Amino acid sequence: MEFSLSNALVVAKDAAVRAGRILDEMLLTASVREKGPKDLVTDADIAAQKEIESVLLTAFPDHVFIGEESGLELGAHGLADEPSTREEGPWTWVVDPLDGTANYVHRLPNFAVSIALVRGDTVWIGVVYDPISRELFSAVRGEGADLNGAAIRASGCHRMEDAMVAVSFPPEVHRDSPEVEQFLNVLEQSQSIRRLGSAALNLCYVAAGRLDAYWANRLKPWDVAAGALIVEEAGAVLSNLCGDQTTIWRGEYLAVASLELQQLMIQALGT
Ligand code: IPD
Ligand code: CA
Ligand code: CA
Repeated sequence: MEFSLSNALVVAKDAAVRAGRILDEMLLTASVREKGPKDLVTDADIAAQKEIESVLLTAFPDHVFIGEESGLELGAHGLADEPSTREEGPWTWVVDPLDGTANYVHRLPNFAVSIALVRGDTVWIGVVYDPISRELFSAVRGEGADLNGAAIRASGCHRMEDAMVAVSFPPEVHRDSPEVEQFLNVLEQSQSIRRLGSAALNLCYVAAGRLDAYWANRLKPWDVAAGALIVEEAGAVLSNLCGDQTTIWRGEYLAVASLELQQLMIQALGT
């Protein structure tokens, strides 16, 4: 297929919906194993990734594919070469076939397929699909974000006492992990706090105004690549936990509905 962002968006949405169908079909039968302490993977993760890779690379054979289940080791900047040389690098699909595997294993309805098209540090397309609610979030850089075809916007919330906030913890967390103290601080100051279990959906929920803020300390590029573009295109503010610019290759993320709330969240997190 001839490459254009609009063609790539159509293909990415098709891949996400096909993978979602596989997740749905395997929900009651998928076998589970631990790939690290408390870090689960199922044969549905693998089957969904295979489908996505096949759809994307059949359409665009010269593109690079990075999926969570490819077993790729990421360096400090995500890929082996230096960030400055990567902007002219290949079009790269960054894919999490199942974000929220722990929820999936327990049949809790909060998991999604996440597909992004990236070049260097720039995300150009983001698609996140929740096969249970059949919600398809998507964005193309510079063109806004939508949910099932209708435009979405972040809430604009600017007060901690009005804010519904979510956090992601890494699979293994200890009582002295930074997230725990941050959690207690935000718990005291915000209206309420949630740990929903899918980083990709958390970002989309900030984009759709369902959440007002979301933070995480240790995410992987495939957790955030698609959601990062969707949330920015919906008008939210995205940064690291100090308010500085971030990229999908770093682990820290703060997505908030307004600049005022960003400052309040940074103070509350104590970073
Ligand atoms: C996980 C989810 C979770 C976050 C973890 C991720 P996975 O991804 O995004 O919300 O807390 O850090 O690893 O393993 O379900 O794809
Ligand atoms: Ca993930
Ligand atoms: Ca995953």
